[in-house]
Amino acid sequence: MTKLDGLLGIEPLEKSTILGILDRADVIHEDPRQRDTLAGKTVVNLFMEASTRTRTSFEIAAKRLGAHAVNVSESFSSSKKGETLLDTARNLDAMGPAAIVLRHASSGSPAMVARHVRARIVNAGDGTHEHPTQALLDCGTIRRHKGRVEGLTVTIVGDILHSRVARSNLHALGKLGAVVRVAGPRSLLPRGVEGLGALVYDRIEPALEGADVVMVLRLQHERMAGGYVPSLRDYSRFFGVNARNIRAAKHDAIVMHPGPINRGVELSSDVADGARSVILDQVAYGVSVRMAVLEMVAGAS
Ligand code: CP
Repeated sequence: MTKLDGLLGIEPLEKSTILGILDRADVIHEDPRQRDTLAGKTVVNLFMEASTRTRTSFEIAAKRLGAHAVNVSESFSSSKKGETLLDTARNLDAMGPAAIVLRHASSGSPAMVARHVRARIVNAGDGTHEHPTQALLDCGTIRRHKGRVEGLTVTIVGDILHSRVARSNLHALGKLGAVVRVAGPRSLLPRGVEGLGALVYDRIEPALEGADVVMVLRLQHERMAGGYVPSLRDYSRFFGVNARNIRAAKHDAIVMHPGPINRGVELSSDVADGARSVILDQVAYGVSVRMAVLEMVAGAS
């Protein structure tokens, strides 16, 4: 089994490491029984930002591997009393967990914490930087539905500027050989995104044309100071994915969304719940990906 010192992002990973994680996740997904790989170990989920999918998924993953899963959320932590993230992490580390899964609003915070604790750190989303397990589960879901990632055209539509999911997917999909298009209002397309290998579109229709995979992202209001889009109605009209414009994609194109969905804004309900949608498959596969990652990160320590 591949061993990992932690998982801070996709950018530093080799293609072979990404494929190793996905191959292991596939094995787990086909045989989702209780395991004891992490028996006697503790995994702390330190979530300093809201989460439904990622936190629950990591908790289920740790428990299915036989670990004790301990959840610490911002609203019930001593950060409310002024404790720094580093002090919080070092105190949790003193209790001897094998891994700390960290979500935080500050880009780079998992890397900073990793330099000061013994536990292995897994990045569960840091600011606008990376969300590596989301990209891994996205690539794995694509591979399971399409049989491959290499050579596919993947269109990512939405708030690319603030999206750690987009950033991690640009790295992952690029390493796995997909052709990646990004589409959104110019104000939400980061300068230099072409440098990550993406083809850039400021209109949705040509971006969807012939796509194999359409990955829809929400507007990250919590990371916007305002003024990025004139109104939600305008955004939906020009960049919302719906039953009409999705016809430009290939007839067998799949539609993905990392969640949470703002229905009727970036994605219409008929497409979100329609035959092309693999959104709940992403969620289900996410548990297997996180089991594979936790095994590789904490299994040997
Ligand atoms: N995809 C994702 O990160 O969802 P949560 O914010 O609910 O964890």
